[in-house]
Amino acid sequence: MTGNIIFIGFMGAGKTSVGRAVSRRFHMDFLDTDEYIEEKAGMSVSEIFRTAGEDGFRRMETEALQALEKEAENCVISAGGGLPLREENRELLKKLGTVIYLKVSPETVKERLKGDTTRPLLAGPDPEKKIRELLEYREPLYEQAAHYIVDVNGRAPEAIGEEAAQKAGIGI
Ligand code: S3P
Repeated sequence: MTGNIIFIGFMGAGKTSVGRAVSRRFHMDFLDTDEYIEEKAGMSVSEIFRTAGEDGFRRMETEALQALEKEAENCVISAGGGLPLREENRELLKKLGTVIYLKVSPETVKERLKGDTTRPLLAGPDPEKKIRELLEYREPLYEQAAHYIVDVNGRAPEAIGEEAAQKAGIGI
């Protein structure tokens, strides 16, 4: 399918708020893979992690991408932070549309996710250490998955969205 723009990046990078800003600005439908999966499974992401494990959730992410490849056209898609970890998913993402990596610093993530209880991967005793470890491992994978990279630190969603849309050739 064509005309889609997909935001990837770490938890707290602003994929959903930037995605929503782009969808408003360019009158495109907005879709979030976490919400898509929660709806299909009838459970929250935390419940899926508890009952099916991280592996089970990652399988559901691949299935969601396969379905979206058939369904989504001219959509803004916000992808769960761990979705690009699987090589298969990185390939599916590139087929789905233009992939924008929203690059965020660990400090910004820490600030934005203070007090958050919805991310099972950061629920342990030392979330800051976990953020740094996960980011270090994931950054090269996000870069591999992306067509373009946009820096998000200290910027408003609308400005980030404008840059991303321009890179993806939306609204031209
Ligand atoms: C995850 C990110 C979350 C959600 C799940 C796992 C990750 O999505 O998919 O908690 O592995 O980074 P957001 O990036 O939208 O928070």
